Amino acid sequence: MTRTIFVTGARGKTGREVVAQLAEHGDTEVRAGTSQSLRESTTVHFDWQDRSTWPEAVGEADAIYLARPDVQDAPELITQLIAAAPGAHIVLVSEQGAEQVAPGGWVRRVEAAVTGNAGRWTILRPSWFQQVLTDPRYFLDTIRRQHRITLSTGGAPIAWVDTRDIAAVAVQAIVDPVTHQGKIYTVTGPEAVTTAVIAADISAVIGAEVSAVDIALSETISGASPWLADVVGDMFGRVHDGTFATVTDAVERVAGSKPRAVRDFIVEHAEQWRA
Ligand SMILES: NC(=O)c1ccc[n+]([C@@H]2O[C@H](COP(=O)([O-])OP(=O)(O)OC[C@H]3O[C@@H](n4cnc5c(N)ncnc54)[C@H](OP(=O)(O)O)[C@@H]3O)[C@@H](O)[C@H]2O)c1
Repeated sequence: MTRTIFVTGARGKTGREVVAQLAEHGDTEVRAGTSQSLRESTTVHFDWQDRSTWPEAVGEADAIYLARPDVQDAPELITQLIAAAPGAHIVLVSEQGAEQVAPGGWVRRVEAAVTGNAGRWTILRPSWFQQVLTDPRYFLDTIRRQHRITLSTGGAPIAWVDTRDIAAVAVQAIVDPVTHQGKIYTVTGPEAVTTAVIAADISAVIGAEVSAVDIALSETISGASPWLADVVGDMFGRVHDGTFATVTDAVERVAGSKPRAVRDFIVEHAEQWRA
């Protein structure tokens, strides 16, 4: 029997990989959500801020890949989306170390919106994505143009995970909801690596010196709204205290493949940082 899967953020770093990997499962019909006015055969218009787009996206969906919208009212939006898709198995992307956030904190309220409302759910708590290194909204341009990676880590390493591996775990949860219902997976790469090591590895592949600049935690939240300062400050606090350095075997255990190392990602994507 064909199952209908709605993927939010289908052009995003995790969503696009989920769509690509679901295409290999013949018994699924994928609706790839985008807030842009794109019309391809599998694309469906979905905007968190426009309820009129929701019914076509989630109606009769058997599962929803839910890349958490990073907005203040995400818990309320998610609660309402689940009400519009009763019976759908929700696979949520949260973040590593969410269990350390206070229950009233935004990250935990987002997770509770899923666990408290969905009949079936799976939570993924990924570490930092390797793909931020090639994302123009994060480090692509500063690495390419300024030869710098600026991040507040306090020198702590991070268990950088490839979004293809996050997607592999998500797809297993989607295609086998019975096994993965009610499970929480902390999804990481195979090792924890500092930004200094990442800068050195990129330097080696592009043949030019890239430096890691560690800024104060207070600098990362300077000028942010109180909500954002709280959420981002808390997250960087978990980077500094080493929470994001914890390595798990979730990728191998759930998806049956070894997680990709950030060093291999750097070799694979070297061309993108060459000026
Ligand atoms: N980056 C990290 O290292 C990291 C680590 C752990 C957890 N996370 C969390 O992972 C989650 C998702 O990550 P991601 O990297 O896959 O996302 P992403 O690459 O930032 O993509 C998000 C997608 O959301 C879509 N979008 C934007 N505005 C929208 C709207 N109003 N309505 C519906 N869709 C909209 C965009 O696609 P369209 O333009 O096509 O709509 C975009 O491609 C976030 O909650 C993030 O906090 C990130």
